[in-house]
Amino acid sequence: MFKTGIYSLHQIRDDHTYKALLGGLRKVSVSLYDQLEGRADQAALQERILLLFADDRGAFKRTYSNRVPDFDAKIVALLHDGGFGRPLKVHDIAVSDARTACDLYCRLKEEGFDPEYVASDYQPIVTVLEKGPFRVALSSNQQILEVVVPPLVINVVKPDSGLYYPLNALVGFFARKVIGPAVVSLWRRGNAQAREVKLICARAQMLERENPSFRVLRHNVIDPWKENAAFDFIRALNILNPQYFSPEVFQTVMRNLHASLREGGLLAAGSNQEGQSEVNGVILRRKGNSFVQIWQSGSGLPVDISPFCDAPLK
Ligand SMILES: C[S@@+](CC[C@H](N)C(=O)[O-])C[C@H]1O[C@@H](n2cnc3c(N)ncnc32)[C@H](O)[C@@H]1O
Repeated sequence: MFKTGIYSLHQIRDDHTYKALLGGLRKVSVSLYDQLEGRADQAALQERILLLFADDRGAFKRTYSNRVPDFDAKIVALLHDGGFGRPLKVHDIAVSDARTACDLYCRLKEEGFDPEYVASDYQPIVTVLEKGPFRVALSSNQQILEVVVPPLVINVVKPDSGLYYPLNALVGFFARKVIGPAVVSLWRRGNAQAREVKLICARAQMLERENPSFRVLRHNVIDPWKENAAFDFIRALNILNPQYFSPEVFQTVMRNLHASLREGGLLAAGSNQEGQSEVNGVILRRKGNSFVQIWQSGSGLPVDISPFCDAPLK
């Protein structure tokens, strides 16, 4: 049994569910992300594309508009109480296509914080190669992320289960080992077309154009923050999860976040599922060499942060 994918604008329907016959969802190719400009359903379709698309670290790019309104409301209340100056310097990490960043930026602006807002992500751009009927999406490290072999859309990083879809698994194997590398090699020799696809939602692109105080950048949270300014507030949504970092790397990430936050600044971190579902997270305040937890949402972060609270970060 095949699970076909969506790889052409002609296949787009009004509802964007695209359910597969044996259960699960059909993939919508990332190569369509930049082809949707001007459509009324652009934001919804781009959300649907990112639902099943993963970066080369194996992290899903899944994101939803208006994902955490209650968590953001608590953040705003604590920032109001915290006596922070203006402009408020904010870093929103791992934002995927930045739609959640737009929500918080606009809210902070409405609340008078005059935010200087950096939204960053590890992989905000992919390169899409085309040769004949095939399409290949490459990460900035030139790792193959997706191969379109019509009528299939193969996610190379997060493949379909061979149990339910053995033919997808078989074609997936050839896509990974033969078709993908062949298209890449043709492109390197100048025999395939390529374009960069910015995985930044239209609202974020518009905010960036109209407000110098809103920027979307590439940044890996495993690396130290290079710019000089210390942030008043950092938000980490759906990223500080155990599956994304080993315990050692997680320590590096926490150290980097601590180092880029000013004394007394806040770090809000939490995870949830679809839009407006409960966030399991915490809000921490930087105090000296450590953090102090000042609020918990739901069951707290899905990773143990006690070593970073009230204990110096090594
Ligand atoms: C599940 S999405 C969360 C997106 C958004 N924060 C939200 O909650 O809707 C996880 C994002 O983290 C990014 N990511 C994974 N590892 C990262 C890293 N080391 N540094 C920065 N971003 C990373 C992925 O590329 C992906 O866009």
